[in-house]
Amino acid sequence: MTDPTVIHLRRGRTSLVLDARGPGLPRVVHWGADLGPVPADDLPALVGATVPPVVPSSFDAPTVLSLLPEASAGWSGRPGLAGHRHGRDWSTAFRLDAIDVDDPRGDVGDAVRVAHEEDDRGGVGAARVSVRATDPGVGLTLTVEITLDPVGVLTVRHRLRNDADQPYEVRELTPVLPVPAVATELLDLTGRWCRERAPQRHPWPLGAWVREGRHGRTGHDATLLLVAGTTGFGFGHGEVWAVHTAWSGDHVTAAERRPTGESTLGGGELLAPGEIVLGPGDEYATPLLYAAHSSTGLDGLSDVLHTHLRARPQHPRTPRPVTLNVWEAVYFDHDLDRLRALADRAAEVGVERFVLDDGWFTGRRHDRAGLGDWQVDADVWPTGLGPLVDHVHGHGMQFGLWVEPEMVNPDSDLFRAHPDWVLTAPGRLPLPWRHQQVLDLTNPAAYAHLLDRLDALLTGYPGIDYLKWDHNRDLTEAGHAGRPGVHTQTLAAYRLFDELRARHPHLEIESCSSGGARVDLEILRRTDRVWASDCNDALERLSIQRWTGLLLPPELIGTHIGPGRSHTTGRVHDLGFRAVTALFGHHGIEWDIGAISTAERAELAAWVALHKRLRPLLHTGRVVRLDHPDPAVQAHGVVARDRSRAVYAVSRLATSVAQTPGPVRLPGLDPTRRYAVRPAEGVPEPATLQITAPGWLPAVTLAGAVLAAVGLHLPALHPEQALLLEVDAVD
Ligand code: DGJ
Repeated sequence: MTDPTVIHLRRGRTSLVLDARGPGLPRVVHWGADLGPVPADDLPALVGATVPPVVPSSFDAPTVLSLLPEASAGWSGRPGLAGHRHGRDWSTAFRLDAIDVDDPRGDVGDAVRVAHEEDDRGGVGAARVSVRATDPGVGLTLTVEITLDPVGVLTVRHRLRNDADQPYEVRELTPVLPVPAVATELLDLTGRWCRERAPQRHPWPLGAWVREGRHGRTGHDATLLLVAGTTGFGFGHGEVWAVHTAWSGDHVTAAERRPTGESTLGGGELLAPGEIVLGPGDEYATPLLYAAHSSTGLDGLSDVLHTHLRARPQHPRTPRPVTLNVWEAVYFDHDLDRLRALADRAAEVGVERFVLDDGWFTGRRHDRAGLGDWQVDADVWPTGLGPLVDHVHGHGMQFGLWVEPEMVNPDSDLFRAHPDWVLTAPGRLPLPWRHQQVLDLTNPAAYAHLLDRLDALLTGYPGIDYLKWDHNRDLTEAGHAGRPGVHTQTLAAYRLFDELRARHPHLEIESCSSGGARVDLEILRRTDRVWASDCNDALERLSIQRWTGLLLPPELIGTHIGPGRSHTTGRVHDLGFRAVTALFGHHGIEWDIGAISTAERAELAAWVALHKRLRPLLHTGRVVRLDHPDPAVQAHGVVARDRSRAVYAVSRLATSVAQTPGPVRLPGLDPTRRYAVRPAEGVPEPATLQITAPGWLPAVTLAGAVLAAVGLHLPALHPEQALLLEVDAVD
């Protein structure tokens, strides 16, 4: 008989099966590979087959893991909810009240259908489930919102409402998803300033692998994705499950493997004591937990996530303008004539957006003063920014401006006038960081002032097309009115972005935070790209971009050609290596190109032109990365969605013991089609391509199957050199 309360949702290559027969919270029976059209009559059998046996020295009935793990259901791992009411009501036993299923494709038996507004999480064609459960004994209502978008990206959010008269403190509320036991290895990312998103990988041991961020921002060390996979999974092979906690404040992402047999991935907000105390009728909502699965390794995972992000209504649809950011060219040394000359050079090489970085506002001659005083410095800019904005626009380029709205230097007029407008622990200022403190955006007067200043700036200079929105310190001891304040500060910052965007709908915004410390999907709902790192050293960038790209498609990642000698590492690289590395993203330049030779500018212009020619492919195609056996070789590419063409970059990171690193395979092509492979057209004379011995540059025509399985020997590159290959179908 059909059981309407076993729900099977299918989207993309993913299935989600929920056992919602009650009386407790629903259980995820399966999240992973598409199961095909399971007959409704088989669903109860599927549920039955996945109930664990009762074993000696355990509860008398099988324990099953629900959408909110509870001790009352026999769960002894990390709790889904931790909270209390003056030390009582600490344990829940939620009972299912209602379940709404909106699955436009059917396949949900007799479940109730409800209409949901289209939103940017699922869009048209998404399946949605909403579960409501109550525990009258403790006076709480839990709502679980699940969305499975058309490509198979799952999002889960919990909402908890206090139904009682007494306050209830939420200490932790974390959605979790089960992962099957075949997942035996974990991959996550960590990092620091200038070395963001460094991978770490290890067997998945019993116990909990918990990644916590207490920076009050997403953090340089945030994991971005936490991936569990089958033994030896790689870019092109293995089955993987991954989650992302979409939150720009304190957060936790965790993998747990229990001796009782369950494995879970989950993530939520990290709450300080007393931070969330629900009054009667109040509700707390968790950040969205994004989850994706792939049977074809990490590239398959990225493909699902990139496709999801590209389908969002707010995803940038115009060609991503090649950007010149002046930071590493002039730092705080602002001079109109010099900047105009830089804009001239930028226009010559093909730049489309010119960004004036830090240093334009009152008192900002160095990083110790001025933050908070968001008016143009009349000493440095006696005629305002207008002449520069006009000059930039005169070249047909967009104009961008740097701001750091949430911050204030104690040496600023704003702080002198309102020393109480910053986040503090009672009685003391938090430790200074880059000589700055954090404005308390939950203070209505501070918020209104800031919104007004930013709005006035954008209204006064309608020529500002773009803001680079920075955030250069951690929030430490970030209290508001004596209470922990990161949660409310994070929501207020989101509100500020949203209000500014609503008032200035054509404005684009970059999320920057001392480089890449605010990279998450919640900030990306209100911004158009991220600054991946302050490190423009191409060698470091290869890794930073590769792993940022696990979640984000190239068009959302700012990638700039830096100066010959990197400002953050001192390494020296040829332009060719820097340009090939910066090609695969939202391309730009961060270099004093007023001070380089004419020949070098011509070479740079050729690289910019090449990026523009390849941009439609780079910003829509499928990203592939190679599992090359030699760690000194890193290769990646982008394949057109119809697999008619592709571009690959092969980089030599170091020397190898082996004389040649072996053939490089080209994945992602149509195995049945034939492709012409050749060095990319339009690459400036490879005067700078250093090859250890004169070798051949490949120009062959072979089937996609051959290129994927056998690959090509490439010239023996010197370390820190890269080769760009273009591949076109010939049939
Ligand atoms: C940190 C950013 O990451 C840099 O790109 C630059 O904008 C500086 N801040 C300016 O202070």
